[in-house]
Amino acid sequence: MNRVRIAGLGHYLPEKTLTNLDLERMVDTSDQWIRARTGIQERHIAAPHETSSSLGLHAARMALADARIDGADIDLVIGATTTPDGMFPSVGSLIQDGIGAKRAGAFDVNAACVGFMSALATAMQFIATGACARVLVVGTEVLSRIVNWEDRGTCVLFGDGAGAVVLEAAQFGGPLGLVLRSDGSKKLALFAEGPCGPRDANGEGPAHHLCMINMEGPAIFKFAVQAMTQAVRDALTQASLRVEDIDLLVPHQANLRIIQGTAKHLGVPESKAIVTVHKYGNTSSASIPVALSEAQKEGRLAEGARLALCSFGGGLAWGSMLLEYSRTGVVPTQRNEALVEANAAGS
Ligand code: ACO
Repeated sequence: MNRVRIAGLGHYLPEKTLTNLDLERMVDTSDQWIRARTGIQERHIAAPHETSSSLGLHAARMALADARIDGADIDLVIGATTTPDGMFPSVGSLIQDGIGAKRAGAFDVNAACVGFMSALATAMQFIATGACARVLVVGTEVLSRIVNWEDRGTCVLFGDGAGAVVLEAAQFGGPLGLVLRSDGSKKLALFAEGPCGPRDANGEGPAHHLCMINMEGPAIFKFAVQAMTQAVRDALTQASLRVEDIDLLVPHQANLRIIQGTAKHLGVPESKAIVTVHKYGNTSSASIPVALSEAQKEGRLAEGARLALCSFGGGLAWGSMLLEYSRTGVVPTQRNEALVEANAAGS
């Protein structure tokens, strides 16, 4: 079986920002409440002409440049999104065309905020089996299009953005443990209906507000901490590793208190958790690849570092991937513990 290296990373946030002060003028809320309850200070909002595929294309181009390859070198493009440009074609197909990946296949994965991790796991299987040598995975969202801007309980939480990863077959790197879980019986805790749902006797579809994000916030909060903590523990058990072996925690960026709670329950120092939620809000499928790309640009991803990705979202769905980060794909002669730790701490 092949191992998998991360050959390139990229991310893109739309230009326009929406601050908490802007939101104060839109709904009954305050900068103080939003900061205290979520840690979010601002988020980015797509321009009218932008879509998940156009944001994703920016991130994809950056990841390809980082990997020093062309679109033509890619065998498969997997999009992860809950906010596709349309029902079809897939965002993956649109990005495949945009980067000129002429011989690549393409499709999308939707697992709400677990979409990117699910797409990453799928891509890694293609590489492990030898079916593909290079796969591009893009997590991208324009959640601002499905946010109910009159609902203060949700509209302060979400933002738009995209992150991309180029994966390549290698001798070193890739998943050490993987846990993906779902409980569809909890579907009403977090949902957004779409154009293909059931019709009533008059042939009418769901009311407009049901097509936007509906969420039982406090219930999701409790679930999120417990579910991510358990998923990381299960992934560690699979990999025969201990919590102390985690160099970096890369959690879904939904709420700073959820990230802090998860780190605390796991017993991972907060300094080991990547945090971007204060500047981007919750970007669903984009949150983990954006965090990874930024961490790499900041020099926090050392060769051989063990990353614990974890996420939760609509489904309900949740999971964790323990990932041995390798850019070179070359088996190390020895693991430099001190260097890996210093990089993870951003020092
Ligand atoms: N400004 C002011 N007050 C607000 C706001 C706001 N923006 N939003 C809600 N409130 C009020 C509520 O009306 C409620 O008031 P009440 O007690 O008078 O009824 C009160 O605040 C609720 O307060 P808390 O119980 O303290 O809320 P909590 O600490 O749980 O924070 C929050 C609420 C931020 C929504 C939190 O529960 C949360 O982050 N939940 C998880 C959400 C999430 O991560 N979703 C992920 C989605 S992933 C995906 O798949 C899309």
